[in-house]
Amino acid sequence: MCGIFGYVNFLVDKSRGEIIDNLIEGLQRLEYRGYDSAGLAVDGKLIKDGDEEIMNNIIIKTPGKVKVLKQKIIDDEINRTDIFDNHAGIAHTRWATHGQPKEENCHPHRSDSTKGEFIVVHNGIITNFAALRKYLLTKGHIFESETDTECIAKLFKHFYDLNLKAGVSPDLNELTKQVLHELEGSYGLLVKSYHYPGEVCGTRKGSPLLVGVKTDKKLKVDFVDVEFETNAAQQQQQQANGHSSLLQNNHSTSLDLGFIPVAPGEQNLRTSQSRAFLSEDDLPMPVEFFLSSDPASVIQHTKKVLFLEDDDIAHIYDGELHIHRASTKSAGESTVRPIQTLEMELNEIMKGPYKHFMQKEIFEQPDSTFNTMRGRIDFENCIVTLGGLKAFLPTIRRCRRIIMIACGTSYHSCLATRSIFEELTEIPVSVELASDFLDRKSPVFRDDTCVFVSQSGETADSILALQYCLERGALTVGIVNSVGSSMSRQTHCGVHINAGPEIGVASTKAYTSQYIALVMFALSLSNDSISKKKRHEEIIKGLQKIPEQIKKVLNLETKIKKLCNDDLNDQKSLLLLGRGYQFATALEGALKIKEISYMHSEGVLAGELKHGVLALVDDKLPIIAFATRDSLFPKTMSAIEQVTARDGRPIVICNEGDAIISNDKVHTTLEVPQTVDCLQGLLNVIPVQLISYWLAVNRGIDVDFPRNLAKSVTVE
Ligand code: AGP
Repeated sequence: MCGIFGYVNFLVDKSRGEIIDNLIEGLQRLEYRGYDSAGLAVDGKLIKDGDEEIMNNIIIKTPGKVKVLKQKIIDDEINRTDIFDNHAGIAHTRWATHGQPKEENCHPHRSDSTKGEFIVVHNGIITNFAALRKYLLTKGHIFESETDTECIAKLFKHFYDLNLKAGVSPDLNELTKQVLHELEGSYGLLVKSYHYPGEVCGTRKGSPLLVGVKTDKKLKVDFVDVEFETNAAQQQQQQANGHSSLLQNNHSTSLDLGFIPVAPGEQNLRTSQSRAFLSEDDLPMPVEFFLSSDPASVIQHTKKVLFLEDDDIAHIYDGELHIHRASTKSAGESTVRPIQTLEMELNEIMKGPYKHFMQKEIFEQPDSTFNTMRGRIDFENCIVTLGGLKAFLPTIRRCRRIIMIACGTSYHSCLATRSIFEELTEIPVSVELASDFLDRKSPVFRDDTCVFVSQSGETADSILALQYCLERGALTVGIVNSVGSSMSRQTHCGVHINAGPEIGVASTKAYTSQYIALVMFALSLSNDSISKKKRHEEIIKGLQKIPEQIKKVLNLETKIKKLCNDDLNDQKSLLLLGRGYQFATALEGALKIKEISYMHSEGVLAGELKHGVLALVDDKLPIIAFATRDSLFPKTMSAIEQVTARDGRPIVICNEGDAIISNDKVHTTLEVPQTVDCLQGLLNVIPVQLISYWLAVNRGIDVDFPRNLAKSVTVE
């Protein structure tokens, strides 16, 4: 979905060309998230504006890919040589929600078309934008786009003018607080303005934002203090806004008449210094800041990052980073934000020898699954230790039920492991799609444990479900890939799956790692059960072999490529049949095929075949059946018989050397090694990941960027 990137240099000379290149590169690293337009804003030249000298802006934006934006910058012959020792640039990739992907709707958006005093990029959705727009229209603002974002830029100017009228020149961070007071919905946003040269404010609510810091000098402390509102300032602010928003004033002019500007003590008077950025000799130090919605776009510059919390305002000026809150400190609220070191490596977000990220990620699975288990399983003594859960295990063991909540592929990993969870823990487990769970307003209680599974940790539906469960007092557990994501920070405890960055829109290695993390979770919950000891040992021994077995399955690629070329290429529809543990594999395979190759495909519970789906079966419909050895194998075989009796010729995924399947009624077999029943899905899913990949490649589809989809679904 939308991506934000900002770059601020202080006492580090950069030409406009270098600044633009930085912004473009940042956007390129966000491309994988899915988008339809791109844009950026940088400083132009000092121009005369009456008696004043102001820095004009250069805003360049266009529908299409970042390379189109790059070309536009060349075509517009933007001067690259001017040097800035302090500059703030902002950039954006847009995934259209309000208004089509056309130039006027691309970000950045400006407060006015004459001077462009305030410029904003924004991720998320402002739900009260229609009312704000209506109000701002009555105040004479002229809108240039159909977006919700534009009203944010207009609000900045609106409040700036009101403050000026009252004789106050507000600090950018105070102005941001006034604007945020009016916004409903979700946002990650950056604002720059020629009134505040070289400064930027970034803030978030429900949409990720982080700040990377690059400096040659050592930071004095590895945290930034949070600057809360004082009681007096808050009272004044509340008075200023009549303790209500513009809209509650019923679009009247009462706000303008009764407007009280920001607290006088706050206007451009910077009394505090950020401790982290104090240099040894008390001189300002050269520093660069990178603001982004995704660590992947920061990692090539610095590993030192600070993840913003909801409602934080990061104000960057004079080489310092300040974190402000619009409220006074409440009990238990943290007074610092740590500057952390990213574990990610640059090569993890590069394609290397692979043609697509998806292919790379499929082939990374021997390593990614190993990394999920690394340091957590003592294979010799069959002990699983999950550090992030340890302290919470006794509480979880006593819970009334476990509710697993997720979307898409992550939901499938929950389905795939529900049965082993119930078997090992003897706690009832339900698996919920986050959106449906919320739609139903499902009852949740204090003695429930709610497990949230997500690759990105930013999926809007899952985050909303998490907040819903937190409000009801349930214990929340996160099974997340992205370190520092909203979900990993908002849950009480959890496990990072350590699969490494997943860039391809189709989730592959995250699925197998989530699967393993959930199995390890179930093992930890039941590790004190004597009666389960044998089963534990069997599963742990099975897990140990998984990375090597995945390597073997990956050798099927040549056969699969041929199958996709010869037999599946022109097909319009595909059924995947599985039961028991393999029903989740069938659903996951169908999702992969749909999203990447655009071929209709359906995962069908083999037992349900005769209740309707059988009507579709004939000698033409391609079917993939999962018939690996487990207790349900005879039943799966009878489903295959039902298919072949209707002239269906299924492709059967079976265990190595399984002669029973090899009869002439079967189209072909794809043989995978055998493992413990509850782990077999980890191996069976690999051939279908490869099938979806090669079907898509054959059809000339941009595998990493399937149409209409985004990697991280940050809107409801
Ligand atoms: C998987 O291939 C999809 N791209 C999608 O279903 C994804 O799994 C879903 O949007 C959930 O994302 P999350 O794991 O980041 O929460």
